[in-house]
Amino acid sequence: MKVGILGSGDVAKALAGGFIKHGHQVMLGTRDAAKLKDFAAAHQGTQIGGFAEAATFGDVVVLAVKGTVALQALEAAGTANLANKPVLDATNPIAETPPVNGVLKFFTNLDQSLMERLQAALPAAHFVKAFNSVGNAAMVNPQFPGGKPTMFICGNNDSAKATVRGILDQFGWETADMGKAEAARAIEPLCMLWCIPGFIRNDWFHAFKMLNRG
Ligand SMILES: NC(=O)c1ccc[n+]([C@@H]2O[C@H](COP(=O)([O-])OP(=O)(O)OC[C@H]3O[C@@H](n4cnc5c(N)ncnc54)[C@H](OP(=O)(O)O)[C@@H]3O)[C@@H](O)[C@H]2O)c1
Repeated sequence: MKVGILGSGDVAKALAGGFIKHGHQVMLGTRDAAKLKDFAAAHQGTQIGGFAEAATFGDVVVLAVKGTVALQALEAAGTANLANKPVLDATNPIAETPPVNGVLKFFTNLDQSLMERLQAALPAAHFVKAFNSVGNAAMVNPQFPGGKPTMFICGNNDSAKATVRGILDQFGWETADMGKAEAARAIEPLCMLWCIPGFIRNDWFHAFKMLNRG
């Protein structure tokens, strides 16, 4: 696949590394290519461009920017360049205010998630929430004694979700499909829960697992 990744931070780089490892073509999009100079040097064949170039390049697009500017980044990427494409949304709506006793603050509420806002603003793109509920160090083929962890996903387009499920298979995850975009109201706050052990006891390597009836 050709994968366009909007972002230059830890998530963009971790997922880019995973896509490259699994044989996909990657272009990372940023406002400042200098931020990705070292990454590009270490990963031959990776392309670096602007947000619009990365969105145009990708058959699949990954959104990996700060939650507060997610809509701005998508607008810079160009709504037409994202139309009819799966947009794997790894963002979280983390507010600028600091955590309280290790609990992050969100700028959304439980009646509307960030992904729903983005989906409403760009109706032709096929958003799928994924990779928001784990730290970047464990995104690609993580090894846990308890086996494969579970990634909770949601989105309105079944074909886009099938594409994301295929990516999660390659990246060593079980997929739990929680349904339509509204489920992001529940999936985004998993980020708050995931971060608490990090803030209160500096434990940043763990993941969620769903246990089913079998
Ligand atoms: N860090 C993690 O382990 C982790 C895990 C799961 C989910 N997440 C979520 O994934 C997303 C990315 O996290 P991150 O830690 O990799 O990076 P981040 O520091 O949250 O975001 C960096 C990115 O945001 C972009 N950005 C900042 N201000 C912007 C603006 N005004 N307009 C357009 N773009 C702007 C930057 O673009 P430029 O490249 O142009 O500077 C950069 O690509 C966040 O939503 C985060 O909550 C993070």
